[in-house]
Amino acid sequence: MTPDQIHLLRRSFAKIEPKASLAALVFYRRLFELAPQVRHLFKSDIESQSAKLMDMIGLAVSLTDRPGSLESELRELGARHLDYGTLDAHYAVVGTALLDMLSEVLGDGFTPATKAAWTEFYALISRKMIEGAAAARIDSAASESPATGVPGKGKG
Ligand code: HEM
Repeated sequence: MTPDQIHLLRRSFAKIEPKASLAALVFYRRLFELAPQVRHLFKSDIESQSAKLMDMIGLAVSLTDRPGSLESELRELGARHLDYGTLDAHYAVVGTALLDMLSEVLGDGFTPATKAAWTEFYALISRKMIEGAAAARIDSAASESPATGVPGKGKG
């Protein structure tokens, strides 16, 4: 990502943050409209879920110019998402819901350049999460005994 794009991300995130509850409501309403089949995966209340999502996006935005430190955190987050029932295919629809939410909450502030910056940013973080999930799946398969086919300590 370019320094200009990072600047646009930070600036728009600063506008979203004070409206975190509204942003979360808009985001989840849009997500469940686009993908009603993922609704049952979300077990905690929407307020705490929204706070976590905002924290994570905020952290990711603040670390964009230090990709090394961001990488391991995102891979671990992706691995945890396996336990939440997240499939690789869900990342695209979550990305669409995120962009639609930004467009609704930022209004005219959601310029084509801001949209491009968020699109690239989401592609980057979701790619790292998907990589982390893939690595965790391999670890889990490797911990099953190949000789007997009896599951080991992996997640099955
Ligand atoms: C870049 C994309 C995403 C980010 C930054 C993100 C971030 C988070 C964070 C920070 C949490 C809190 C728990 C934790 O830290 O382990 C969480 C939980 C969760 N996420 Fe994500 N997530 C993303 C994509 C997705 C996708 C694609 C799905 C699939 C539908 C999903 C479904 C969930 C679920 C089901 C939970 C647990 C919620 C609950 O128990 O109520 N997330 N996410």
